[in-house]
Amino acid sequence: MLKCSFIEGPILHRLKYGKGRGQNLSKAVGMKFNKNREIVDATAGLGHDAFMLASLGANVTLIERSKTMYKLLQEGILEAKSFGGEISKIISRMDLIFGDSKNIIPNLSPQIILIDTMYQERKKTALVKSNMRMVREIVGSDPDYLELIDIALINASNRVVIKQPIHAEKINHAKPCSHKILGKTIRYDVYMKT
Ligand SMILES: C[S@@+](CC[C@H](N)C(=O)[O-])C[C@H]1O[C@@H](n2cnc3c(N)ncnc32)[C@H](O)[C@@H]1O
Repeated sequence: MLKCSFIEGPILHRLKYGKGRGQNLSKAVGMKFNKNREIVDATAGLGHDAFMLASLGANVTLIERSKTMYKLLQEGILEAKSFGGEISKIISRMDLIFGDSKNIIPNLSPQIILIDTMYQERKKTALVKSNMRMVREIVGSDPDYLELIDIALINASNRVVIKQPIHAEKINHAKPCSHKILGKTIRYDVYMKT
């Protein structure tokens, strides 16, 4: 069964033992020079990226439009809040909103927007982790992702970061990205605004 947990499982393991944890993600959102980033995670999912960013010091607004995913996130956040210690401190930097980011973003005047929509799988590869496969079964694909990117690009004051599998096809978007950050399995396309 799919569960969103910040006090056990892969996310906690990454927090405790992940050397250089979230390094490429933190580079992509520009935390190297400013730890106090205000970030909107427009595609919250299981909240893993948001938690990683909050663990590095950022304040993160998470937006999720699937009722099921939103409820799972709410439960995970509640559980982690009552856990105390470092985990609760991290969670206090995360603010969850229900709804479609396309409608919500224009009301937030965000600095940085992170987008990680469900990748449109071409081949049935084994690369998609089982948790994400379960998320896909719940939310389907996100066919409106180009529209979300457009809205993010209009509204972000600093940058838009798009997370994709490394071998994902180039985003078919009018604007080329400013730079890419490449990892072993993940690629970040960064669109600078300033
Ligand atoms: C691939 S998952 C994100 C995983 C997330 N980065 C993590 O670390 O757990 C994509 C999620 O974004 C949500 N989503 C996609 N488009 C959205 C939109 N326009 N507004 C809000 N949520 C959206 C989907 O419902 C899904 O839960």
